[in-house]
Amino acid sequence: VSATAILAAAGSGERLGADAPKAFVELAGRPMLEWSLAAIEAARSIEEVIVTMPPNGTTGTVPSVPGATTVAGGPSRSESVANALARVETELVLVHDAARPLVTPELFDAIVAELEADPEAAGVIAATPVVDTTKEVLRDREVHRTLDRSSLWSIQTPQGFRTEALRAALDSTELLALASDDAMLVERMGGRVLVHEASPENLKVTTPLDLRVATELLRGRSGS
Ligand code: C5P
Repeated sequence: VSATAILAAAGSGERLGADAPKAFVELAGRPMLEWSLAAIEAARSIEEVIVTMPPNGTTGTVPSVPGATTVAGGPSRSESVANALARVETELVLVHDAARPLVTPELFDAIVAELEADPEAAGVIAATPVVDTTKEVLRDREVHRTLDRSSLWSIQTPQGFRTEALRAALDSTELLALASDDAMLVERMGGRVLVHEASPENLKVTTPLDLRVATELLRGRSGS
């Protein structure tokens, strides 16, 4: 079974306050998306990569991405993924956010292996158990309730799917703008989605603080 990776890199990344789209911000000496591309290339189970790119007219410089197929992003993350999915020809697809540059080749391969091992699973998604006590809070900052931490997971990417399951889920277009990940749409269709425990190091770069942490971790990995 072969797999295609979709690298979502079309976001503007306003919360980072940088002058380029987030995926192209310099991180430990390379544009952020190149760290994920290198991990995808080193993953044995992935044969092709499709990158969703910021639309023309986005502020800042967007370098080209050698060796990858690129498609234009959409107004929301899921619409960007849907554009890329139209090009996918393999039985399995893995969606990964360029905003998670600390991903490893082993994580991609482990998710593909779990999908292969469980034909009933529509999706297998990277996740890490929640460590903080988590509460639901109302608009006026009043605590509504405390959630049971033992059943809570923070969801990451990569998220792997049987391509036909993700295609069916992304067809329900009215929900696309609301979905913060792809698995949510598959779950809504009744698809069985499993979490795969990943390292909390696979963090998402959203704020300038995350950028500092990711820079330190990547420098530590390469030993420089
Ligand atoms: O904004 P957020 O950090 O949630 O974005 C997650 C990922 O989705 C990022 O890697 C971003 O580049 C990508 N994205 C996209 N198309 C959009 C919005 C976000 O590919 N329209």
